[in-house]
Amino acid sequence: MNMHKISPAFSTRILFLTLIFGAHLAGQAQVTWSGQVASIIYTNCTPCHRPGEIGPMPFTSYQEASAYASMIAFTTQARSMPPWQANPNYSHLLDERVLSTQEIQTISDWVQQGALRGNPAQEPPLPQFPSGSQLGLPDTVISMAQSYVHQGNNQDMYRVFVLPTNLGQAQKIKAIEFRPGNSRIVHHAILATDVTGQGRSRDLADPGYGYTQFFGFGFTPTEDNWYGWAPGAKAHVYPANIGKNLPANADILVQMHYAPSAVTESDSSSINLFYDRDTVVTRTEHILPITPQQLTNGPFIIPAGTVRTFRGRFQIPYEVSLMSIFPHSHLIGTSWKVYAVRPGNDTVPLIDIPQWDFNWQGFYHFPRLIRIPVGSVLHAEATYDNRASNPNNPNSPPATISWGEGTTDEMYLCYFGFVPYEAGDELIAVGTADEDRLRRFTARLFPPYPNPAGDRVTAEFQLNLGGQTQLHLMDATGRRVETLKSGWYQPGLHEVELNLPNVPPGLYFLELESGGRTDRSKLMKR
Ligand code: HEC
Repeated sequence: MNMHKISPAFSTRILFLTLIFGAHLAGQAQVTWSGQVASIIYTNCTPCHRPGEIGPMPFTSYQEASAYASMIAFTTQARSMPPWQANPNYSHLLDERVLSTQEIQTISDWVQQGALRGNPAQEPPLPQFPSGSQLGLPDTVISMAQSYVHQGNNQDMYRVFVLPTNLGQAQKIKAIEFRPGNSRIVHHAILATDVTGQGRSRDLADPGYGYTQFFGFGFTPTEDNWYGWAPGAKAHVYPANIGKNLPANADILVQMHYAPSAVTESDSSSINLFYDRDTVVTRTEHILPITPQQLTNGPFIIPAGTVRTFRGRFQIPYEVSLMSIFPHSHLIGTSWKVYAVRPGNDTVPLIDIPQWDFNWQGFYHFPRLIRIPVGSVLHAEATYDNRASNPNNPNSPPATISWGEGTTDEMYLCYFGFVPYEAGDELIAVGTADEDRLRRFTARLFPPYPNPAGDRVTAEFQLNLGGQTQLHLMDATGRRVETLKSGWYQPGLHEVELNLPNVPPGLYFLELESGGRTDRSKLMKR
């Protein structure tokens, strides 16, 4: 039908409907799965609600989602799903999982109108979810040496695993990507680096793989809170010339929270590390906490039957750029509010968590670096409810709770990730530009074989993105002798046979060129 000309019959029908339903219908168009709802669910829910992920039921089709229609309406209206603890009206954080009021209304209208499917032909396809790395080809993958068996007894498990890196040299890390081995149970992971060996002794002292520890590591590792992960977290590249330190031969400690499960599950998680040889990391992110030592109204004791709010203040000794924040309390914690006051009383809201949930915690990243000048004060307020009416109270009847690492103890910690300020930091955005660069630049040439080679040699290379790719032979001074191969290659691992005719014996280099990046490997010609 030509949409510009409305047929008389059609306009009569519109008039008829308008007369019958009047203003009622005007505000409430028909909402269907195919028309409006599928794209909201696929974007905001299906990343976790699909087979093998942590969401307890899959939402990958109309049938699956409509079976839970009223629960979907309920949880979205209550804003308990998608899980996102920070208040978006207070501050904006990277990768916020927040539905708009309009989207919540659309879901609610859909359910009220009977959760109709609409025209299946209009349904958006289920998106492709990344299965491998979100960032590209890692330089190093550090994996759990064994898989850990998490008992199907409906209990939480908090366990630390010690992963030796065996990297003889210290490294500057541009991106850290935690890859849960079993997404059905891995609920959070906090990483630390350690060269003290204390993690290893604790592992030995505890039967089985790893050691049980409710939060933290049971001692202070070399770099506490090196990285944090929770379901739905996206991997990011540290922006500009910023990165993380990984000392030589360090262990990476992984503090894992496994969610309760009715069936026995096993997990073997791993960590992808990216070095990004194209940027020089000159600044490393530091992490420091506000602790009960900074309380203005300590000591940190919450008597049985009381609700207490603790306020900490930390004066900034030198100018910093804030990158991330990680408030932490245990089970009776109920809220957090953290802000900075710059000299002259300019308040910078950092994070507001009105309903603290131990199950959803980790680092929150600021979308841009936040400049905090000398003389500013960081304020961190946390509330704890130690009454019997708090369903999360681990003691029944309530008992006095104070600082400690156990499930029935409490904590008041707010970690800040920062770098010393440099001019222009407030313009640095965290996100895709750096990631695109890293993705584009992962083209890797492995040592050719045999080496030394006769007239033929095999080269192996891996591309993260497909593209025009060349292999050049260079002499010992780096001059190009000839191009041995040229063509378009798919992303992935390739093995190519190269002829080396007519080149005199000696030392050469093979050079891979793809996507603007080159990688070289030595080659001896016999
Ligand atoms: C980051 C992962 C994640 C995302 C995104 C997510 N969920 Fe969930 N969902 C979970 C987990 C995990 C549970 C189990 C309960 C828990 O741990 O909070 C859950 C539970 C639920 C439940 C069961 C009721 C309940 O509260 O336990 C419903 C219904 C639900 N989600 C709907 C949704 C909808 C609708 C969306 C999108 C608007 C969504 N979820 C997005 C992880 C997620």
